[in-house]
Amino acid sequence: MKRLFGIAAPLALGFFTGCTVPESPERQAELAAFAPVKAVLEQNCVHCHGDQRLSTMPSIHDSKALAALIRQGGWITPGRPEASRLYQVVSFPDQVAGAMPPTGHALRREERQVLREWIQAGAKVPRGPRLRFEPQGELPRSS
Ligand code: HEC
Repeated sequence: MKRLFGIAAPLALGFFTGCTVPESPERQAELAAFAPVKAVLEQNCVHCHGDQRLSTMPSIHDSKALAALIRQGGWITPGRPEASRLYQVVSFPDQVAGAMPPTGHALRREERQVLREWIQAGAKVPRGPRLRFEPQGELPRSS
């Protein structure tokens, strides 16, 4: 009986406390560095560039999809924001067809800067478990 308890107690403890596995320090650092980028994409892009594939740009609904987009080349060129289509389209002035987001307001300067610096610094996406990008706020549009 005592022996059984010796096995059951750690298991029970693990069940109650261990449901969420703590993130490694490396993963925590990667998540923290990526958080502003995720926020910009979630507030401005994934409403349209989520699961439904409406564009020539493959969907960016989670971290694995984003990493695949980077590997594909052209859309995001690590170290070179100006050569990255994703950065180019958010930098176009309103009157240029193809400016993103296509409706409503353009990205704020700080939001553009977040994308710029992230690409400049190597466009790192957190490794490990898939990080889902959920649309935040209203779909950006003017009316
Ligand atoms: C309201 C919906 C909507 C939102 C929001 C939106 N897009 Fe788009 N996007 C589209 C549509 C529709 C297309 C396809 C039209 C096209 O390919 O020209 C597109 C195409 C693109 C393309 C490929 C077109 C090209 O010229 O290479 C890129 C890159 C892109 N979007 C990036 C973004 C980024 C980054 C954001 C967020 C800052 C964003 N989009 C927000 C609807 C949207």
